[in-house]
Amino acid sequence: MDRPYHHEACDGCPEKLVCRCLHVTESQVIRMIERLELRTVRDLRQYTGAGDGCTCCHAQLEEYLEKFGCAAVESIAIG
Ligand code: FES
Repeated sequence: MDRPYHHEACDGCPEKLVCRCLHVTESQVIRMIERLELRTVRDLRQYTGAGDGCTCCHAQLEEYLEKFGCAAVESIAIG
């Protein structure tokens, strides 16, 4: 029996999942942080859906915000 398309796509997907509940990938999270200058997990939840399930990815979402968000860029610029 054939498996549904989305399962096959996930099996072969090279993307790292950050939020398993909502199937949000690392590249989606980073892209949204950088493009929209997101600052909070609430922002990420609103624009990507990441973190709207079990919430166990929130600590990791915070790390992405610290690493790729405006605060990180400002601290690098100030030196
Ligand atoms: S893993 Fe992100 S909400 Fe569950």
